[in-house]
Amino acid sequence: MITNLLQGKKGIIFGALNNKSIAWHVAEKAHAQGARIVLTNAPVAIRMGTITELAEKTGSEVISADATSMKDLEVLFMRAMEIFEDKIDFVLHSIGMSPNVRKGIPYAEISYENMLKTLDISALSFHRILQTAYKLDAIREWGSVVALTYVAAQRTLAGYNDMGDAKALLESISRSFGYIYGKGRHVRVNTVSQSPTATTAGAGIEGFDSLVDFSDRMSPLGNADAADCADVCITLFSDLTRKITMQNIFNDGGFSSMGMSQRAIEQYRKSFDECTDK
Ligand SMILES: NC(=O)c1ccc[n+]([C@@H]2O[C@H](COP(=O)([O-])OP(=O)(O)OC[C@H]3O[C@@H](n4cnc5c(N)ncnc54)[C@H](O)[C@@H]3O)[C@@H](O)[C@H]2O)c1
Repeated sequence: MITNLLQGKKGIIFGALNNKSIAWHVAEKAHAQGARIVLTNAPVAIRMGTITELAEKTGSEVISADATSMKDLEVLFMRAMEIFEDKIDFVLHSIGMSPNVRKGIPYAEISYENMLKTLDISALSFHRILQTAYKLDAIREWGSVVALTYVAAQRTLAGYNDMGDAKALLESISRSFGYIYGKGRHVRVNTVSQSPTATTAGAGIEGFDSLVDFSDRMSPLGNADAADCADVCITLFSDLTRKITMQNIFNDGGFSSMGMSQRAIEQYRKSFDECTDK
């Protein structure tokens, strides 16, 4: 077993709501690998979720911040540097929310007011975080910033709604800021594209259970779970990946490279055998 991969490193982890959250798993693994962390989430999520339990387990402080507020983000980064008495080595952006998805409004009928919220919370927040860290020079040279994304940025998946647009923007911000942060400060910026995972955000997607089942059957290695995702994030925070930047890394068991599996062909044929029309 690999140990102390993040020994001496300090990080900020956004988005641990409860023990299903992907960020929760990342925080536990970062702590186990020797990192010190600060946990953060929106005020309402801190009230409704169980983040304080995670803070106790990992010996970390919780700082409330709405990721759409520049003021909150500035206070968060300043306070984290005070706590660490140092700069930050890694940041995880694990934030997503679409009012259109939440309200079950179909894509062709979405409210643009809602969509602007989706984009602000799920994508622009990443730019805000990067801009704040860059302005404060809060991240140490060869530091690493990771955001979580989904293959709906490249492919259309029914039910994912305007979150697909948000993820496309998120991945683009990762490349655009990755260039600036890499050239200016040698900081890496990447996204990890994760399999559908049973979390509070995931469960909000229409037809989520079918999506999980379909992805699992279609992926040669099966779906990646939250713990698998955390392993990839830890690797990206570590010094083993110093030259990986501006990349979107698929942690999806091979799903994104598949077209049709043998099993799916057989199932497809069978379903047509049952059809009477030609
Ligand atoms: N679950 C999946 O199937 C899946 C698949 C691929 C990618 N992702 C991505 O992983 C990330 C984490 O999601 P999750 O599945 O762990 O679900 P989750 O619901 O546990 O996490 C989403 C987090 O976003 C936070 N958030 C929402 N609005 C915020 C705001 N204004 N400021 C700060 N934080 C805010 C929530 O409080 C919550 O902690 C998201 O970006 C999601 O899109 C999830």
